[in-house]
Amino acid sequence: MTIGFIGTGVISEAMIRGLSDVAGYTDQIMVSKRSFDRSKRLSEAYSNITICETNTEVVDQSDWVFVGVLPDQVAMVLQALPFKTTQKVISLVAGVGLKDLKRYLYPCEDVIRAIPMPPIEFGKGPLAICPSDDAFETFANKIGVVVSIDDEDQYNLFGAASALMSDFFAQIASVSKWMQLHGLDPTASARYASALYESLAFLTTKESAESLTRMSDACQTPGGLNEQFFNFRQSCGVDQSLHDGLNQILKRLESSD
Ligand SMILES: NC(=O)c1ccc[n+]([C@@H]2O[C@H](COP(=O)([O-])OP(=O)(O)OC[C@H]3O[C@@H](n4cnc5c(N)ncnc54)[C@H](OP(=O)(O)O)[C@@H]3O)[C@@H](O)[C@H]2O)c1
Repeated sequence: MTIGFIGTGVISEAMIRGLSDVAGYTDQIMVSKRSFDRSKRLSEAYSNITICETNTEVVDQSDWVFVGVLPDQVAMVLQALPFKTTQKVISLVAGVGLKDLKRYLYPCEDVIRAIPMPPIEFGKGPLAICPSDDAFETFANKIGVVVSIDDEDQYNLFGAASALMSDFFAQIASVSKWMQLHGLDPTASARYASALYESLAFLTTKESAESLTRMSDACQTPGGLNEQFFNFRQSCGVDQSLHDGLNQILKRLESSD
């Protein structure tokens, strides 16, 4: 099977590297010429990658086409291309719904939305997809944790949660910075903070949906350090600000769909 990428940006590169390095994908991958430095880097790294002169060439030669352009580019780019009914198109674009996509991709009807995250490069992280699709799920499970859903409104919840990325990195950097302000050297601070967050996040992957909510309680020994810190942060309204922020992003995604 040949796959193609319209838009060879940050997230397309992460997917291509994940597919190649983790999933061992060796079939043909067609990429568009735009972002030439990146396309060239990829074609030099993997012998199965071909840089196409035009987007039309990518579409003509691919069984599945991934769309990785920015939201405000998607209508103009896709409407100009000769998609076929036999193709599957996977849009990575945030905030452009299936109805609009199918209009731009006519006559192709086999359209999926997906939200990969940058760690997909290393075969890690969630990959939300809508609607569910057996063939794509089998393919994508090799590079991430696929969570599929048929209801597009609920899919937006994943889109909103994916906006946590910058805040998450900032929190780890802030813990590291706090240690440095108290005199610890930057390398030890960063090393400790990132290993701490990575290992705690890892533990959550071992829990069931029900026990996830009990993990915080379980480490709050009465009168202990965890309990003190947790109660202080709760009194600052961290839960409320998290939910308010997610609600804002959700509203924005719902209004752009
Ligand atoms: N980054 C993430 O973590 C992430 C995660 C999930 C989903 N997404 C979604 O994925 C999409 C891409 O995001 P990104 O972060 O990868 O953005 P990006 O790095 O800016 O990539 C966009 C790419 O589209 C190319 N492009 C623009 N116009 C084009 C055209 N007419 N024909 C072919 N290629 C064209 C750009 O090329 P030039 O550089 O030459 O303009 C660039 O390579 C977005 O819609 C975003 O919502 C991103």
